[in-house]
Amino acid sequence: MPSPAPRDKRLFTPGPLTTSRTVKEAMLHDLGSRDAAFIETIRAIRHDLLAVAGLLPEHGYEAILMQGSGTFGLEAVVGSVVPPDGRLLVLVNGAYGTRIAKMAEILGIATLLLAVPEDQTPDPEAVEAVLADHPDVTHVFVVHCETTTGILNPIQAIGERVKAHGAVYGVDAMSSFGAIPIDLPACGIDFLVTSANKCLEGVPGFAVILARREALLATEGYARSLSLNLLDQWRGLEANGQFRFTPPTHTLLAFRQALQELQAEGGVSGRAARYRANHDTVVAGLRALGLRPFLDPALQSYIITSFHYPKDPRFDFDTFYRRLSDRGLVIYPGKVSQANLFRIGHIGRLTPQDMQDLVDAVAEVLAGMGVSLPLGA
Ligand SMILES: Cc1ncc(COP(=O)(O)O)c(C=O)c1O
Repeated sequence: MPSPAPRDKRLFTPGPLTTSRTVKEAMLHDLGSRDAAFIETIRAIRHDLLAVAGLLPEHGYEAILMQGSGTFGLEAVVGSVVPPDGRLLVLVNGAYGTRIAKMAEILGIATLLLAVPEDQTPDPEAVEAVLADHPDVTHVFVVHCETTTGILNPIQAIGERVKAHGAVYGVDAMSSFGAIPIDLPACGIDFLVTSANKCLEGVPGFAVILARREALLATEGYARSLSLNLLDQWRGLEANGQFRFTPPTHTLLAFRQALQELQAEGGVSGRAARYRANHDTVVAGLRALGLRPFLDPALQSYIITSFHYPKDPRFDFDTFYRRLSDRGLVIYPGKVSQANLFRIGHIGRLTPQDMQDLVDAVAEVLAGMGVSLPLGA
């Protein structure tokens, strides 16, 4: 497997992530955005994304690329697919669900929330009950892997309820697509959003939307933005193979290489196996030190894991973070309101050996801070 450039710190974060040297090297070219070679790059990427999702032509899905980070892709979907008289139900168990609700509010979309605590998943039966109580709900959005904690939401069971209600279903699969298998037709997903720089292991610069063509075509006239108009973006790509406005050329070159590396790794299942091994290494290693994961293992994804701070009063997160970073290992702060946590990402071009190096460094850094190990012993 290609390794990252030796001088770079290793990123145990939810993204941007450590990428392969070959993905970075793919950017060492300047391509005209109207040039045939670049148009072919866009075509191949759109084609290959559908293949990564296991989608065949008869499934009727389209891959749309949208400049910007993942949030821009989400805002393009939310702002383009809900009609003026529509009502959006957002399922919330973390910061990214909250963000979808906030963008809907700013866009003036009538919104309903079904919120559960950050260590729990939305119950599909509760979703069904809310939909029964609110027949005016036209759209339902949920986050697949809530990166806030690493919890994995049951998108298929929820999707079945959404489809029974006849609503349009959107899934934020930002931190899961490419590493957790998602059967879009079986889940009833109409719009899925992900980004170049998470499990697909590209560099930042654009979002990916997989849209069911029929649901997309039904959104004529709904878009609340010029640049984030999903239908127009698709029409532009279909008409001449180009972006409507300046594309992230170098990011797209890197992404084409990243997709080839995904395929070489054995596709989604190959990547899943490595990330799962990464996760298992970190969780076993940090548990042995006495650190406690925040989530019930049954709800935990192999994407990112949240750990409680050690109870020892000598523990200080900023010092912990800095000392790990000084060793070339970048972790991530926690994001939940009700507990003091830090997070370790298992995604990007890292292996179980990298995870073991982190575990060893955590043991040394905690010992250096005077935190007695194993904790709680
Ligand atoms: C689940 C989820 N949704 C949305 C986002 C936002 O993506 P971005 O930071 O690329 O805008 C993230 C980023 O980590 C995420 O994990």
